[in-house]
Amino acid sequence: MATQTAPTSAPPFGTVAAPTMVVADVADGRYDDLRVVPTRELTLHPFAHVLHYGSACFEGLKAHRGTDGVVRLFRHDRHVARMQRTAELLLLPVPPATLLTEAIERVVAENLDVIPAPPGALYVRPMLFGTEPNIGAAAAPSREAQLVVVASPVGDYFAGGGRALSLLLETVLPRTTPQFGEAKAGANYVMALGVTHRAKAEHAVDQVLFAPGGLVQETGAANFLLLDDDRVVTPALDSSFLHGVTRDAVLTLARDLGYRVEERDVPVEELLAWDGEAALAGTAAVLAAVGSLVHGDGRTTFGDGEVGPNTTRLRDALVAVQRGEAPDAHGWLAPVG
Ligand SMILES: Cc1ncc(COP(=O)(O)O)c(C=O)c1O
Repeated sequence: MATQTAPTSAPPFGTVAAPTMVVADVADGRYDDLRVVPTRELTLHPFAHVLHYGSACFEGLKAHRGTDGVVRLFRHDRHVARMQRTAELLLLPVPPATLLTEAIERVVAENLDVIPAPPGALYVRPMLFGTEPNIGAAAAPSREAQLVVVASPVGDYFAGGGRALSLLLETVLPRTTPQFGEAKAGANYVMALGVTHRAKAEHAVDQVLFAPGGLVQETGAANFLLLDDDRVVTPALDSSFLHGVTRDAVLTLARDLGYRVEERDVPVEELLAWDGEAALAGTAAVLAAVGSLVHGDGRTTFGDGEVGPNTTRLRDALVAVQRGEAPDAHGWLAPVG
């Protein structure tokens, strides 16, 4: 992957490294000072805990360049808290909130020059992994670790931008184990990879919607919502899926706009009978319309199969806040630089 300067058109999501990253080493659970260094290869001992026992987690958040030119991080406090929670679940040394916050703000400040204009953004990817060199430590936490915060100038996550997505409904297999759903750990993604890869190859869909036991959870990289002119319906938070920051923002804006928000079980029968729109919410996906769902009995279309008006309305409301075009009524933005 090559480092490059400010792109003129949006590159594929996640393929371009911003020039500068921030690193902190952790020994005996204690975090060293942050180091700001060029984005480059990492050095790992081949016995490193992460390479054998999967002690790795990450976060994903964005800094947006507003239409006024100001760069603002979106809800980074929430991403810091979620990474602390994930680290706790993986028994990795939990990064102090102040240090992780500073690392995120530093990486944005150092890479201001490569942040594309809207709809592009700087995607910030903090990572934490166990580095203790001990291949006998399968049942022991890694006391050594490294925190690395990289960044990437990005455009659209789903190739095709504004088109409605198609999903395959999976009603047997879970995305990951129930107690780890709320962790943003690499292991969760690799567990879902086979199912998602097969779905793409065999059904030409964009993603898999996991609904083990007949109750909707989420897709492999975003939360799922049903919408109509009055309501937004989405699964209530539990430990089986990731507690998306975008999900929370969309639900908050939906309430502000007068929608009734229902956080509850969403049975597959209701999903297949839904007379309205469906969408995916996530930092990368923003709010992406779902046009159709492939399932055992065939294909269900949401609305007219295109991007619906309620999805557009909520997406526009979210993007307007992120770009500094609408008032930041909930204190979600932090200017950088
Ligand atoms: C599995 C999964 N669910 C949901 C989300 C959405 O979370 P957020 O809105 O915090 O990005 C993500 C990340 O984007 C994810 O990877």
